[in-house]
Amino acid sequence: MKKILLTTTLLATALFANPYESTPEEIAAVKATGQKTAAALLKSLGGNLQKHLKSGGPMEAFGFCSDHAYTLTEVIDQSMGSDVSVKRISLQYRNPANAPQGSEKAILESLQTLQANGVVLPEDVVEVVGDGVYKYYKPLLINKAACLKCHGDIDKLPELAKAIRERYPEDKATGYRMNDLRGAVVVTVKH
Ligand code: HEC
Repeated sequence: MKKILLTTTLLATALFANPYESTPEEIAAVKATGQKTAAALLKSLGGNLQKHLKSGGPMEAFGFCSDHAYTLTEVIDQSMGSDVSVKRISLQYRNPANAPQGSEKAILESLQTLQANGVVLPEDVVEVVGDGVYKYYKPLLINKAACLKCHGDIDKLPELAKAIRERYPEDKATGYRMNDLRGAVVVTVKH
């Protein structure tokens, strides 16, 4: 009995308590880095998306996203130095390179559960991954009607739907509605 209790306690500790000490100052610094990095990425991706939607419509914008969104993210990632990295993740990813890794999946699922229970999601959350290693998450919502062209009911634009299915035969990133949680920007920070 004692043994079972001990095992349960150890398991609970491993699951629920974070063994790493981190000060409020450290968390604040991680948040500041995360916010700055996520903003730089979203400004670049969002700006380009808007520009291409305006100049060439959804087909041209789709070409931009499929050819450049991932590489642009990598360029920004590399420009941040070796202690900071940035990427996008989604439970329903279009690009398999954006599939969540390890604990990222559970965090996205938690955010989704919170939202399903009527919680207005926070601007960001910080995960303590290891000693001095953090992951900053900025939840990404479907916050513009334009997102729905490529992530909503894509069959409204048959030419675009065809291009999406050809390029991403395993696509999971459709069927969203306004304000749905689309994914997150993840900034890993070594502090
Ligand atoms: C013109 C089509 C198009 C529009 C509009 C669009 N996206 Fe995407 N989106 C894509 C494509 C293509 C990808 C996959 C390429 C990549 O980013 O690696 C993608 C990928 C993503 C990803 C990365 C996860 C994944 O599924 O691979 C997120 C997050 C995302 N989009 C959010 C949004 C949001 C939020 C909006 C509205 C502000 C939006 N998208 C508008 C085409 C579009």
